[in-house]
Amino acid sequence: MDDEQLQILQERAPALAALYTTGRSAILEARDMMTLEKVRVAVLGRKSPLTEMLRSISTAAPEDRPLLGKGGNMVRRVLESLVEEREAELKRAALSESLEHERLDVTLPGVPFPAGHEHLISQTMREVEDIFTGLGYRIAEGPEVELDYYNFTALNTPPSHPARSAHDTFWVQEPRETMPEAVVDADRGVLLRTHTSPVQVRVMEQQRPPVYVLCLGKVYRRDSDATHTPMFHQVEGLVVDESITLADLKGTVHYFTEEFFGGDRAIRVRPHFFPFTEPSIEVDVNCELCAGKGCRSCKHSGWLEIMGAGMVDPNLYGFVDYDPEAVSGFAFGMGVERMAMLKHGIPDLRLFYDNDVRFLRQF
Ligand code: DAH
Repeated sequence: MDDEQLQILQERAPALAALYTTGRSAILEARDMMTLEKVRVAVLGRKSPLTEMLRSISTAAPEDRPLLGKGGNMVRRVLESLVEEREAELKRAALSESLEHERLDVTLPGVPFPAGHEHLISQTMREVEDIFTGLGYRIAEGPEVELDYYNFTALNTPPSHPARSAHDTFWVQEPRETMPEAVVDADRGVLLRTHTSPVQVRVMEQQRPPVYVLCLGKVYRRDSDATHTPMFHQVEGLVVDESITLADLKGTVHYFTEEFFGGDRAIRVRPHFFPFTEPSIEVDVNCELCAGKGCRSCKHSGWLEIMGAGMVDPNLYGFVDYDPEAVSGFAFGMGVERMAMLKHGIPDLRLFYDNDVRFLRQF
């Protein structure tokens, strides 16, 4: 409605003009959708003065009727479109307001989620595993609850053998004490494996030479002090093929130490005894901390003991039906905790199992 139209209305139908001006300002002043809706009902609703006036045109003086009818409808249309405009305006304002305040910047850095990682013992096992699978070894597994037969007897350690007592075995079922007289047979005892060596026998039972396997896993002994935990981890290697010699064992171990510890490393081999290898050796690697001069870490010897090893005792082949004249082999075993301690300079074995993240996070 332009000014001229409004002026005509004010002169000739002042009540209608007043409805228009008050309605208009009420609409324009509405600050939110709820108020606007109330205003709309009051100004344009069925009970609003404007509707009442339009409804009562028939009772007005005949000469006023055309103006009231035309003017009234025009006022209604204009106010209706004002309501629509105001509504659109309020919606737009609400949107930009929420865009302003609820803005989500997807490029902002997120809240960091603390990610864990493998325990150093697991990492160390994976490293050793990688080195040997790189040489073509296969990974073998065996049970942690093991038969006496595999843990001792078939490893050339018969029931009366003194080497058994050195193992501080956890018995699950001790043969002599718990079994009926008729089945007393030390081989049938059940225990928590004291080393990973029983997997050697299980592998040889399952396959013919050539054998190149590595077994990593938990072992158990009744021991607990600064240098022993009742559960710890070992890595076992077994090779059986044609004409394998001690030189192959030394070459393999030397390659492994350089890969695992890094740098040029020297190894030293000392004679030792294990029931299942003949000859048996212990292998040392040179101490890098003191360059061989002797320090606390190598107990002033310049060398660090890393594993037991040897040529597979031909007696073992008798248990698995291999021909000792046709094949020969070597085996080695090492403690994973010890390897990790030597590699990372960790002073106390118990740190691995205290579950203190300040320690674990460093690796
Ligand atoms: N099983 C031995 C132990 O726990 C370690 C060992 C020594 C394993 C010599 C071997 C080996 O395979 O040849 O003390």
